[in-house]
Amino acid sequence: MKKVMAFAALAALASAPALAADGAKLYAEKTCNACHGPEGKKPLMPNYPKLAGQNSAYMEQQMKDIKSGARNNGQTAAMKGVMHLVDDAEMKAIADYLSKLKP
Ligand code: HEC
Repeated sequence: MKKVMAFAALAALASAPALAADGAKLYAEKTCNACHGPEGKKPLMPNYPKLAGQNSAYMEQQMKDIKSGARNNGQTAAMKGVMHLVDDAEMKAIADYLSKLKP
């Protein structure tokens, strides 16, 4: 009986994320991990930023600025190329996910 109840609880949990976008899933699906590494901890290049544990609001703003072109320095172009893949809500979900990871 206990097992059945545990399963029911899990099933309820599994269906919940349909409401909020899943940052971890988006992070992998939208190719972010290719450059910033799994969980934003091991960037592909030494001059690419680590993201794990960074402030969520800051990251959200940087993503918007990179997407819009407001942030544009020597290496922004690498990332700008993929930003059409994410909308505002998805950027927020990813930023929230990354901010909760241990640096
Ligand atoms: C092709 C490589 C590449 C991909 C793919 C990529 N990024 Fe980046 N990202 C970079 C580089 C390089 C920078 C630094 C840009 C700069 O200096 O302006 C950066 C910067 C950032 C920053 C700002 C960090 C800071 O400390 O200011 C955030 C947040 C970020 N990326 C998140 C993401 C997310 C989320 C995705 C997936 C939607 C993604 N990146 C995809 C290369 C990439």
